[in-house]
Amino acid sequence: MIRKKLIAGNWKMNNTSSDAADLVSGIVSEVGRANDVDVVVCPPFTSIESVGKALADSSVKLGAQNMHPERSGAYTGEISAGMLRSLFASYVILGHSERRALFGETDAFINQKVLAAIKSELKPILCVGETLEEREAGTTLKVVQTQLEAGLVGVSKEQATSVVIAYEPVWAIGTGKVATSDQAQEVHAFIRDLLNKLFTPAVGGKIRILYGGSMKPANAPELLAQPDIDGGLIGGAALEARSFVDLVKAAS
Ligand code: G3H
Repeated sequence: MIRKKLIAGNWKMNNTSSDAADLVSGIVSEVGRANDVDVVVCPPFTSIESVGKALADSSVKLGAQNMHPERSGAYTGEISAGMLRSLFASYVILGHSERRALFGETDAFINQKVLAAIKSELKPILCVGETLEEREAGTTLKVVQTQLEAGLVGVSKEQATSVVIAYEPVWAIGTGKVATSDQAQEVHAFIRDLLNKLFTPAVGGKIRILYGGSMKPANAPELLAQPDIDGGLIGGAALEARSFVDLVKAAS
């Protein structure tokens, strides 16, 4: 099964609108015509509209870092799927470990977001991954299975191909401690097998599974060469046009 690789940049809470304009222009000028790899940038909400406009004539897609499952209402500080669609976002990161750990997001709440995103034709990038304690306790696969199955409750096999999974070991995020390609591939293959069982092998074979956690141009080629690693969800290295562009090129 040939899956098109996907490189997504999660800018997290970084970049003013003017920083965002510089960064997106550096990305578009180098990989704005890429079509052998899907490229997505996920700026903070304050720059979503301006970055979307800067991407308008390029093949680079716009993503958001989060959203609320409800369509509208009294949810101070929140953003809906419809609002993101109206600004031409195509992807949304859901269940990032920082949302889970710092903002108390549960699997059930993340699942509501996944379903709402799909309903609005936004492609969810559903993040799963274990903490260091969980890895050391030998529960990595169990943790990933619980997060994955709970996050995908109610998703039909027809809808599942629009979903992207990101495996992000929490201990590798922003630490410079990347998972080895064997460690990552083991979990990716496990996720693939679960997806095959949850949906069908034909559907599971189409779902992209990204690796995230200290991915850089230097370690990307080995990770991206693994059979079940279909791209990367990039944090730190997405904040500089040169390294992000090099990651896109590594996936080409
Ligand atoms: O969403 C991105 C990930 O949390 C990875 O972040 O590349 O800075 O480790 P990082």
